[in-house]
Amino acid sequence: MAEQLHPDIESVILSEEDINQIVSRLGREISEDYVDKNPLIVTVLRGAFVFTADLVRAITVPCTVDFMAVSSYGTGVKSSGVVRIVKDLDTQIEGRHVIIAEDILDSGLTLSYLMKLLEARHPASIRICAFSVKDVPGKKPAVAATYVGTHVPDAFIVGYGLDYAEHYRNLPYVGVLKPEVYS
Ligand code: PRP
Repeated sequence: MAEQLHPDIESVILSEEDINQIVSRLGREISEDYVDKNPLIVTVLRGAFVFTADLVRAITVPCTVDFMAVSSYGTGVKSSGVVRIVKDLDTQIEGRHVIIAEDILDSGLTLSYLMKLLEARHPASIRICAFSVKDVPGKKPAVAATYVGTHVPDAFIVGYGLDYAEHYRNLPYVGVLKPEVYS
């Protein structure tokens, strides 16, 4: 069945099939690395909820899931690097193997802050699994992800959890938003 493209989307950069392949691979990699480790998958709300739902179903070893919500201080348009915890984990992470699942790594400031915060709780290990990493010429994210799904261009992309003004998270693909929608 032909996919009906949302009228606000200029082009699709990752189709549902691309996404399935990426997430299956990430699930396989994590499953191989975490045998008998019972990892805790930490989802950073809200954007990562779609990716996490698929990722945990691609992981074949026992694991548990918990959620954090953070909000960026500052303008809200660009990461300031200082985040406020809106919802903390319910799980004690001391001695646990933690994997933070993120939808997109851009400046990396959100995760850099979060990693420090979680490391202070003495997990056995802590790694990042990023569905996508934004390629910005001349810039490198403040943290590196151990598991990287794919690289995306420095464009205004939405879908598969990524939003513009809270919309488009439900698109099953990742696409570039038409400039007239946000300008
Ligand atoms: C997005 C994304 C990451 C962060 C990445 O979240 O989900 O958490 O930005 O940016 P950075 O690498 O530059 O810090 P956003 O603040 O848009 O909130 P959301 O998850 O609710 O969409």
